[in-house]
Amino acid sequence: MLLRNHFPIFEDKIFLNSCSKGALSREVESAYLDYLRDWNDHGSPWELWMEKLSTCRSAFAALINAEPDEVAVTTSVSAAVSALASAFDFAGARHKVVVSDFEFPTVAQVWHAQEHRGAKIIHVPETDGIIPLDRYEATIDEQTAVVSISHACYRHGSRQDPAAIAAIAHRQGALTLLDSYQTLGTMPIDVKALGVDLLVGGALKYLLGSSGLAFLYVRKELISQLQPITTGWFAQEDIFALDITRHKPADSARRFESGTPPVPNLYAATAGITLIQSVGTGKIAAHLQELTGILKEAAHKRNYRLATPKDPERHGALIALRSHRVEELVARLEQEGIIVSSRDGNLRVSPHLYNNGDDIDRLVDRLHAHRELLVR
Ligand SMILES: Cc1ncc(COP(=O)(O)O)c(C=O)c1O
Repeated sequence: MLLRNHFPIFEDKIFLNSCSKGALSREVESAYLDYLRDWNDHGSPWELWMEKLSTCRSAFAALINAEPDEVAVTTSVSAAVSALASAFDFAGARHKVVVSDFEFPTVAQVWHAQEHRGAKIIHVPETDGIIPLDRYEATIDEQTAVVSISHACYRHGSRQDPAAIAAIAHRQGALTLLDSYQTLGTMPIDVKALGVDLLVGGALKYLLGSSGLAFLYVRKELISQLQPITTGWFAQEDIFALDITRHKPADSARRFESGTPPVPNLYAATAGITLIQSVGTGKIAAHLQELTGILKEAAHKRNYRLATPKDPERHGALIALRSHRVEELVARLEQEGIIVSSRDGNLRVSPHLYNNGDDIDRLVDRLHAHRELLVR
């Protein structure tokens, strides 16, 4: 249990749904109040807001071992991937986009939208919650522009090996985009060590911030080659030049931004990331390995069917159990003060730094009481 007393929800609930939304901390709550106070004190504090944007950009960058100039701050992962996709020329020799079947729908949908611009989208299928590497090997070729992979699947938590996939992509001259939304904040992620070219993530879940804030990392060497046409004034070299006669994008990844940033969310995200960094992603990963281990062991003893691979190297913070009537199970647990969620017929249990072994024991106890709803 780490920082649990910073999260008031634990006074009367067991919250195990961070894959959907992180719990509210006192720090994030007061960050929102800071936003209101600054607005009230200064009237129109644009300079301060620009500083907040810059602080938040640096916080995202530090989390993934990138430079701030390699990070665009966006309102959602959807907006980030849309801006990125608009920078590809699918009329040329590289017109294919390889998409894993682990993708959150929005990412795949943005790529499919590029079919109108000549892109061919090819899916790499999963079998029993795993996508073998040789399927990437067989699919990525010299016509592939980008390989789009989700680090951990939002439906069942199965985790891929981005370094191995990026190496396959690079052998064919293709780029790799990693969607880290289900892993960032739960484990160390180093874009340089992984060798991924592009990465997206957001503040809403394990970064403990709010909705309406995400980011895109673009490897420094690629920035000048990618000219997004989904754009706006915050993407310009000089935002406040206010020149209506031309479009002059920033030299940095800021060129993937668009309009006025969601300022309240910058305050909240920075506060959330500060909490994560105060503990450290290495320590959080070890804690989550212990908690997910307790749950997997209990499920194994009672013959509950996991939708998540057992090997801790192959899953993230989310463990999914197969259920016959998952919505009923989620509702019954909620009545008992346990917050979890569902996707694809699976019960999703996603602890974070604030959970402890007692939370898992209590859940296991209630699952036993509702065992007729679990697949065995
Ligand atoms: C892996 C993943 N990517 C993206 C998203 C959402 O992206 P957006 O910020 O566009 O809503 C989610 C949200 O559930 C997710 O789990």
